[in-house]
Amino acid sequence: MKPQDYIAREDKYGAHNYHPLPVVLERGEGVFVWDVAGKKYFDFLSAYSAVNQGHCHPKIVGALTEQAKKLTLTSRAFYNNVLGEYEEFATKYFGYDKLLPMNSGAEADETALKLARKWGYMKKGIAENEAKIIVCADNFHGRTITIISMSTDPDSYGGFGPYTPGFVTIPYNDLNALAEALKDKNVAAFLVEPIQGEAGVFVPDAGYLKKAFDMCKANNVLFIADEVQTGIARTGKLLACDHEGVHPDILILGKALSGGVLPVSAVFANDEIMLCIKPGEHGSTFGGNPLAGKVAIAALEVIRDEKLAENAEKLGKIFRNKLTEVKSDMIELVRGKGLLNAIVIKPKNGKTAWDVCVKMAENGLLAKPTHGHIIRFAPPLVINEAQILEAVEIIKKSIAEIGA
Ligand SMILES: Cc1ncc(COP(=O)(O)O)c(C=O)c1O
Repeated sequence: MKPQDYIAREDKYGAHNYHPLPVVLERGEGVFVWDVAGKKYFDFLSAYSAVNQGHCHPKIVGALTEQAKKLTLTSRAFYNNVLGEYEEFATKYFGYDKLLPMNSGAEADETALKLARKWGYMKKGIAENEAKIIVCADNFHGRTITIISMSTDPDSYGGFGPYTPGFVTIPYNDLNALAEALKDKNVAAFLVEPIQGEAGVFVPDAGYLKKAFDMCKANNVLFIADEVQTGIARTGKLLACDHEGVHPDILILGKALSGGVLPVSAVFANDEIMLCIKPGEHGSTFGGNPLAGKVAIAALEVIRDEKLAENAEKLGKIFRNKLTEVKSDMIELVRGKGLLNAIVIKPKNGKTAWDVCVKMAENGLLAKPTHGHIIRFAPPLVINEAQILEAVEIIKKSIAEIGA
């Protein structure tokens, strides 16, 4: 089959809820993926930061295959011999009393919202059904009905109403707006992405997270960090909140928690919060399965043993410096932290960020535009300096060819 045959088949039998670049991949290893014709590419998306440990990391795949031969799923109707091991490992790793295992990022976000509301009623004394959660404009927390009810992006919420009530939206990176919203005694929590990834890698001002956290504490409001995209070494620290010494009351992780091998997500909190949810009040058939447990332990060990946060910090600086030096009237801005970066493209002669991405693919590097004019660059964190420099050359050449 030719690449266009694969594309035509997906187009015919699959829902049209994505608009992929016309590349058909069949294999991945480390920072590279190969298409069905054998062409090799740098992967500068990493499945939206799920493949931080690199494609098909042997240790993670080893943990998967070994456990898959023994026991894959029990449901939570019974105990299994892996879940407790994973929970102990991960809670010590991130510094919380407990975790609640789920699968996708959206489910973990939903879990955090339920937990915050429950805490609001049980501990803060908010009257029944009155709890509010403050969220930020331009957020991205996933695709469920409740989550799109928090969205300000018409592509996400348009045509899917009616929406879940109970959210107060404030601008991102705006402490005055937060102070105003916190005056409402029915606020249970503030939900925030430490860097807004999907929105186009918006990095808030230095000190924003710390001040927001302190303001939440002063008002007896939970600070919830959605680190599904920013967490697990992506931004040059284990968590993006670590850049400001913030330890969220509720931490949401997903994506790289499995190194991209399985959907594995989790919500972390201390007992005071986590024990507000009682048996039967929340769950998931697959959440906490032994396969996910072994995979997540291996994925987190790889992050620590291969010092991937340190690598992201060091190579991120080099990447941004090199991109900033590129002379092109199509590059409006370069921004990011660690290895979560983006360039803002200024269209030229009718050519947009999409055309740049198609050209980069031709030249051997995969990235995807977000919100039309922004291109996110998020390679696997196992990338080395020579590879980063090679990638910068491909980006530079592609923009020059498109802008010529
Ligand atoms: C910050 C954030 N939260 C939640 C999600 C949703 O994760 P999932 O696609 O696994 O449901 C994403 C996905 O991109 C995300 O970036």
